[in-house]
Amino acid sequence: MIFIYTPMGGADQSPILSKLKQLLTRGGFPHAQIKMDHFFDFFLLTLGLSLGIVVIYIIAFCYVSVNVPDRPISDHHRDLPRQGPPLLRPGSEQKVSRMHNMSDDELLSRAVLVRGMEFSGGGSAVPKVAFAFLTSRDVHLYPIWERFFSGHRGLYSIYWHAHPSYRDSMPVDSVFYGTRIPSQKVQWGTSSMMDAERRLLANALLDPTNQRFVLLSESCIPLFDFMTVYGYLMNTNLSFQASFDDPAWTARGRYNPKMAPTINVTEWRKGSQWFELNRDVANLVVSDRKYYRIFQEHCQPPCYVDEHYIPTLLNILRPASNSNRTVTWVDWSKDGPHPGKFGWDDMTDEFLNNIRFGSNCSYNGNVTSKCFLFGRKFLPSALEQLLRILPVLIGLDP
Ligand SMILES: *[C@@H]1O[C@H](CO)[C@@H](O)[C@H](O)[C@H]1NC(C)=O
Ligand SMILES: *[C@@H]1O[C@H](CO)[C@@H](O)[C@H](O)[C@H]1NC(C)=O
Ligand SMILES: *[C@@H]1O[C@H](CO)[C@@H](O)[C@H](O)[C@H]1NC(C)=O
Ligand SMILES: *[C@@H]1O[C@H](CO)[C@@H](O)[C@H](O)[C@H]1NC(C)=O
Ligand SMILES: *[C@@H]1O[C@H](CO)[C@@H](O)[C@H](O)[C@H]1NC(C)=O
Ligand SMILES: *[C@@H]1O[C@H](CO)[C@@H](O)[C@H](O)[C@H]1NC(C)=O
Repeated sequence: MIFIYTPMGGADQSPILSKLKQLLTRGGFPHAQIKMDHFFDFFLLTLGLSLGIVVIYIIAFCYVSVNVPDRPISDHHRDLPRQGPPLLRPGSEQKVSRMHNMSDDELLSRAVLVRGMEFSGGGSAVPKVAFAFLTSRDVHLYPIWERFFSGHRGLYSIYWHAHPSYRDSMPVDSVFYGTRIPSQKVQWGTSSMMDAERRLLANALLDPTNQRFVLLSESCIPLFDFMTVYGYLMNTNLSFQASFDDPAWTARGRYNPKMAPTINVTEWRKGSQWFELNRDVANLVVSDRKYYRIFQEHCQPPCYVDEHYIPTLLNILRPASNSNRTVTWVDWSKDGPHPGKFGWDDMTDEFLNNIRFGSNCSYNGNVTSKCFLFGRKFLPSALEQLLRILPVLIGLDP
């Protein structure tokens, strides 16, 4: 037998409902019977709606808890959240969790097989700039970066390597949400730093639409608006990796003769850690084992792998594809192992404009005063002033 309930209280009410109504209206007047009918319909409607809302809540809750931003990251890749299908959040860009359970070896060998997409064919795909953030904990100046990226979804991707035990609290609507990659502890000056950089590059290479690869730290800021930076990087085939030879003990002095014959002292280069590479070079850095092994073995403090490995590698394998200069400004004017740091007091239009236009360099064969796209080292104390000055100065969307 099939019971059909019609909300308007028609003739084919189920026997159970009629029974209930009889019970409820027992001894009542005829008009009470009509009222009860309406009450009953209303009651069932309300019950149905409530159940619906509860179900939607449960689904939403499960969904959000799968995607928790401050997911604890284990030291062992095997314990990381399993690789699953990309999670799509309604109303937002298709955001994929960057977590996976590949070991470094698996990751690197998979990454080098991903061919970069060709964009000349007139397809709908758009080349992206991969922004790789290498931090110990939070991206101090993230509100600046949120403004920088705002409105340019689809033209960039972010990869974030922080200490594995660090639990960030980036909200769901942050551009940094879901951008953490499986990480390992990094010790300043050791090859663990370079390992982290290769890990970042490898993760970014997995996306065939990433064409340019920028390494940034928590103390970096952008010096121009997004489209200027994007155009600057996309309109050249050269990488921006500082690379120079210098007889000083802090440069050529760090060369270890045991590196010969694979690396001759004449090939040894020094440069800034903070690179901007094209896809071919990013792939080269991730696929190289021959030279990296030598660096791991023979370049230990006071030889710093991150200051020599990529400059030397490029000089040996891709000299013509490097501009030999960096696009990340830093102040080495004071002597010492660490560059100048800048806080609240330093943040003026004059100071920032001097970084933005204060030098000359070559770009696509032309001399330009636009040499730096990013700057470091900006302290957390600079943030408040930067938020006031920078958006107006460089033209960020409000
Ligand atoms: C990731 O883990 C799943 C299940 O634990 C396993 O089937 C898969 O092979 C792993 N993937 C990689 C790349 O290790
Ligand atoms: C980059 O190189 C390709 C061929 O290797 C060339 O077609 C393209 O025009 C170059 N792009 C720029 C901006 O020089
Ligand atoms: C290094 O290169 C120089 C000049 O190219 C050469 O004279 C020298 O023999 C090389 N050294 C080694 C160890 O190969
Ligand atoms: C950069 O240096 C290499 C040598 O390492 C040289 O071959 C190349 O022409 C230089 N690039 C530019 C743009 O000057
Ligand atoms: C850069 O070049 C311009 C024009 O040639 C010149 O006026 C300026 O002084 C140069 N700036 C520096 C820092 O050398
Ligand atoms: C270089 O300068 C020349 C002359 O000013 C200009 O025509 C050309 O477009 C410039 N090239 C680039 C890549 O900006």
